[in-house]
Amino acid sequence: TGVALFDAQSGKVVAEALHSQIALHAPYGGVVPELASRDHVKYGLRLVDIVMQKAQITGDRLQAIAYTQGPGLAGALLVGAQLAASLAFAWGKPLIPVHHMEGHLLSPLLAETAPQFPFVALLVSGGHTQLMRVDGVGRYELLGDTIDDAAGEAFDKSAKLLGLAYPGGPLLANLAEHGDAKAFAIPRPLLHSGDLNFSFAGLKTAVANEVRHLTGTALPARGAVSSPQPILPPDHPHRADLAASVQAAIVDSLVAKSLTALELTGLKQIVVAGGVGANTRLRESLTAGAEKIRAQVFYPPVALCTDNGAMIAHVGALRLAE
Ligand code: KG4
Ligand code: ZN
Repeated sequence: TGVALFDAQSGKVVAEALHSQIALHAPYGGVVPELASRDHVKYGLRLVDIVMQKAQITGDRLQAIAYTQGPGLAGALLVGAQLAASLAFAWGKPLIPVHHMEGHLLSPLLAETAPQFPFVALLVSGGHTQLMRVDGVGRYELLGDTIDDAAGEAFDKSAKLLGLAYPGGPLLANLAEHGDAKAFAIPRPLLHSGDLNFSFAGLKTAVANEVRHLTGTALPARGAVSSPQPILPPDHPHRADLAASVQAAIVDSLVAKSLTALELTGLKQIVVAGGVGANTRLRESLTAGAEKIRAQVFYPPVALCTDNGAMIAHVGALRLAE
């Protein structure tokens, strides 16, 4: 649950508050939609109060209320929309629906060193992997997309096979720091496809096969009742190597297509947004690749990469100014 107050005049976030649900969902190995909705009910208004108190402001002084319209879990979105609509009604302010990915897309503009329009954006979250051309607020052209799983999903699913907790992306990244990225040959699908699309579903299968191999579990015979997918034990000597190899495969695909997008558009700036944008290896590799073609990479601070209220409030303010 994220709430923020954005000042359109100064272009700055005045106050914000965030309540993470990671601990709530962790025991289940993934997000439980009903628990997510109930938790938003519990924390939504509390966070609004905290932000208003921090900023020493009352509702009548606000210009408008923005909220996440989607995409996302229906129940969680409904809770946020309902709360925003209630506050807008009570305070007599306009209500502005914001697309979740537009929030991510424009969040790099909130950083100290921000890009100038036009730029390329790499959107990498748990549900999206997209390359966009951004010519201005509301002027977006989709250049490439994943044809199956998202990059964050690939991180999370692979992490699960490595026996890591939820959310696996950052945990896998940490584990990978001690591993050899060349130890396992993980495929990089569509790398030479000539277009700007991604594919990550095969990666999960490749990791599952490696785990079967490493744990000595045979593939079920054709037509046989499938045996449960084994999970790599925490003390396995090749666990960090496999993590590093998977991470390298994901990063290589993201970087190669991002650089191609810069070449094809002729643009010299690329911004990275979404949770996977917090990945250190992705940042290093993309920066190095971009330097070679004299392009500049912009990363929002890590706290702005993962879901937050500020990115939605920010787009709300931009909409208001249109
Ligand atoms: O944008 P986000 O916070 O939520 C949405 O999906 O909208 O992105 C979450 C995704 C998860 O898949 C998580 O595992 C991944 O971002 N992630 C990372 C890292 N931090 C978060 N993946 C790789 N390395 C990281 N450091
Ligand atoms: Zn997100």
